[in-house]
Amino acid sequence: MQTKVLPIDDASLAQAASILREGGLVAFPTETVYGLGANALDANAVPEIFAAKGRPADNPLIVHIFDRAQLSGIVAQIPARAKTLMDAFWPGPLTLVMPKADAIPLCVTAGLASVAVRCPSHPGARALLQTCALPIAAPSANRSGRPSPTLAKHVLADMQGRIPLILDGGACEVGLESTVASVVGEQCVLLRPGGVTKEMLELALGEPVTLGHGVLQPLAAGETALSPGMKHTHYKPKARVVVFRGEDKALALALAKAYDEALQGGEKPLLLAMDALLPALGVRDALSAGKDYAALAACLFARLRQADELGCTLLLMQGVPETGMGLAVMNRALRAAGFDERLV
Ligand code: TXA
Ligand code: MG
Repeated sequence: MQTKVLPIDDASLAQAASILREGGLVAFPTETVYGLGANALDANAVPEIFAAKGRPADNPLIVHIFDRAQLSGIVAQIPARAKTLMDAFWPGPLTLVMPKADAIPLCVTAGLASVAVRCPSHPGARALLQTCALPIAAPSANRSGRPSPTLAKHVLADMQGRIPLILDGGACEVGLESTVASVVGEQCVLLRPGGVTKEMLELALGEPVTLGHGVLQPLAAGETALSPGMKHTHYKPKARVVVFRGEDKALALALAKAYDEALQGGEKPLLLAMDALLPALGVRDALSAGKDYAALAACLFARLRQADELGCTLLLMQGVPETGMGLAVMNRALRAAGFDERLV
């Protein structure tokens, strides 16, 4: 199969909509990461997503909608907390897990009685949802286990020959996947941190939000995650990743020392650090993680892919505090590192 990459315009949107209506797959940009979409109501099309990604069938998908009018065919009921959070954050990078309606095939939810729904804010995603007039089931458009794509070229690298069309909307602004929050129970549970932070959810709800099991720690063997995606290996580049955390001065010394030792040991090390720390790392090979945590979030997945393109064998990365966007960044960074973290 030839994979076309097209800029978003009326012609490419019409083409994408007709592929979706006929049961095919289309990759498209959102404000978080690129998604790999199929008609969420088509039980024959959705399994194609799992095949193209090499995704385990027990990991449910997010259903993307243009507006709340579509919810009636997707969720059985809208919990009060969901309404509050939609008012505050939709359209935007927040996915809500709600009780599922019968019309949603079980292959979308991996057999669960709940369904994850998101209303994206990206103009390209919105134009596609409006043109096809369907709910779109879409995971991130990477091969399973690879960093999520934040550029069309990342999607092409993983999906060439597997899907007919990639809509190119440039770089994704947030750069990390959406916040996933479950509102099926008596408390809001944060299953995956993202662009809408735990602090923002708590402010909107006026009550504490529980951190889902497995957000910052690895799950022990046999433990079950509330969000099935958490148990699968994620975000892994080919290079080994180690996360370092501590005060700036000690951190710079520890990163430099680890780099020099790795080099002597025959590795090809690479540093990933915030702009403020880079001068203290001297002439060693380093990539910029940006000037603040939002910039770090936006470039993290691209940097992981870049580390592989540069042929590095060991990526030594500066970790950040787990507040605000830092929680989402560390959730992804620790997974990329297989939870190999050094406190200095
Ligand atoms: O930003 C995003 O969310 C991107 C864009 C394309 O929208 N999508 C994305 O999808 O990251 P995916 O499939 O890579 O991640 C979906 C996450 C997984 O961790 C999955 O386990 C969880 O959402 N999830 C989906 N349905 C769920 C459900 N019913 N209950 C609990 N977790 C669910
Ligand atoms: Mg994913």
